[in-house]
Amino acid sequence: LNAAVKRAPIGVFDSGVGGLTVLRALRAAMPDESFIYLGDTARLPYGTKSDQTVVRYSLQCAAVLVARGIRALVVACNTASASSLQALRLHYPDLPIIGVIQPGAEAAVAASTSKRIAVIGTEGTIQGGAYQRAIRTLHGAASIEAVACSLFVAMAEEGWTEGPIVESVARRYLDPLFASASQPAPDTLVLGCTHFPVLAGAIRAVLPPQVRMVDSALTTAAAVRLRLQASETAASEISNTGAAMTWLATDGAARFARVGSIFLGETLLPQSIEIVDL
Ligand code: DGL
Repeated sequence: LNAAVKRAPIGVFDSGVGGLTVLRALRAAMPDESFIYLGDTARLPYGTKSDQTVVRYSLQCAAVLVARGIRALVVACNTASASSLQALRLHYPDLPIIGVIQPGAEAAVAASTSKRIAVIGTEGTIQGGAYQRAIRTLHGAASIEAVACSLFVAMAEEGWTEGPIVESVARRYLDPLFASASQPAPDTLVLGCTHFPVLAGAIRAVLPPQVRMVDSALTTAAAVRLRLQASETAASEISNTGAAMTWLATDGAARFARVGSIFLGETLLPQSIEIVDL
């Protein structure tokens, strides 16, 4: 009981910097934990690629993180969560693996009064129907509109988070969902891609004011904390040497640092990012 156990880090990955919106919530919820974040920037975007390819990439991302001794894996990418959770769990049956779709669906159902819910995400996420299934499992009678907003990923990765261009793209995607006269509009919009929260201001600007926007970050962080609490030694028996962050990317340290700083809300330095090959 008195042997000091040092906690291994939690691994987090995304196709790029989008997962930093989830990491931010994870760090706020678990300030004593160490994290290793991997952004597969060399192969982004995942959202336009086939499921098979995304599964292969996800397994490679997980392998890099597992080799560094993580004790839990957070798939901070909706596209990878939609296609790869099953394969990841088969490969690493003893590793707690948490995706963002289930927590995102829970946030949506909790936020929506009318249970008319709109989901936006990448092509891969929307076409695979994972959100639609997760929401319907939670609330069978929910009415769900789902639209792929692929350009949002490119704009977010470019660091274009606000202004007239972002708003007009947002209008083009969202007006058919919210400004159609033929049916009652959804009361909740799920940002079903971890890149989208940085565009929240521009998206908000084109939505009817009563629409609630939710994303997976907070509910995923809560799910990770619960999952680890359920399976691990009480915190009092663990001596942590202080939370550490390790940053990995597959390409472009300078770009990752520049755009990642926007997503994270704090300054990242290029020299603190290690480039790895999968
Ligand atoms: N951030 C990822 C997601 O949540 C997708 C971005 C991409 O297309 O690579 O779906």
